Amino acid sequence: MHVLIINGSPRVKQYSNTDKILEKFTEGLCENNTTYEQYEISDKNQWEDIRKAYYSNSNILIALPLYVECIPGLLMEFLETLSPKNDGTKIAYILQSGFAEGIQLRCGEAYLEKLTGFLGCEYAGTLVKGDNFSIRFFEGDMRDRVTGPYTEMGREYAANGGFNTDKCRAFTGYEILPAHMRLALGILQRTLARTMFARIARSWGCTKPLDYRPYQ
Ligand SMILES: Cc1cc2nc3c(=O)[nH]c(=O)nc-3n(C[C@H](O)[C@H](O)[C@H](O)COP(=O)(O)O)c2cc1C
Repeated sequence: MHVLIINGSPRVKQYSNTDKILEKFTEGLCENNTTYEQYEISDKNQWEDIRKAYYSNSNILIALPLYVECIPGLLMEFLETLSPKNDGTKIAYILQSGFAEGIQLRCGEAYLEKLTGFLGCEYAGTLVKGDNFSIRFFEGDMRDRVTGPYTEMGREYAANGGFNTDKCRAFTGYEILPAHMRLALGILQRTLARTMFARIARSWGCTKPLDYRPYQ
């Protein structure tokens, strides 16, 4: 099997969490002779090549981040340039996000299923997973802890041609976090995370506190 992979993030490849997820995913995907070609929506110079690849491939995987509860505008702009295929092409999706709860990705997931119909293709399922904010801030083992599990999902996709399996459905984790975890996260947000975000902001040249309100 050969798979066309499209990274639908508007963030350039170097900074894209989706790209880091795909790095691990494709390790599992390629273990048994599956091959792939990957393109980035963030690079408009690639759009013509992506369009050609869309019309000539029958297994397509679009990996995208959730942006404001649905799909990024730049990806939408690209998709609107495509015509329906109606030739049995299968499209699957990796839908990933910052916040952890699966429930907030379900509206996007439902849209992706509809979108596949608009493109005249067959829906091969969506791998839904949050809790990915940190990927671009981590390196080495810490990053691998978040992205590593996607390797197994690459194997699942290669074996089943999509994500319509119980294993892929279970990959989402919590639909809604239990109360004790929400409480712990609230405390973490006000303490450690606050310090960490302030440090990141300083490293990016921010000279004011993160809760600075000059117009208040
Ligand atoms: C403009 C913008 C909107 C976002 N909206 C959401 C959101 O609604 N829900 C969520 O959980 N994460 C949201 N995120 C976080 C991203 O989904 C998350 O960081 C993702 O891993 C980014 O992947 P990328 O680096 O490949 O773009 C948003 C991020 C940005 C920049």
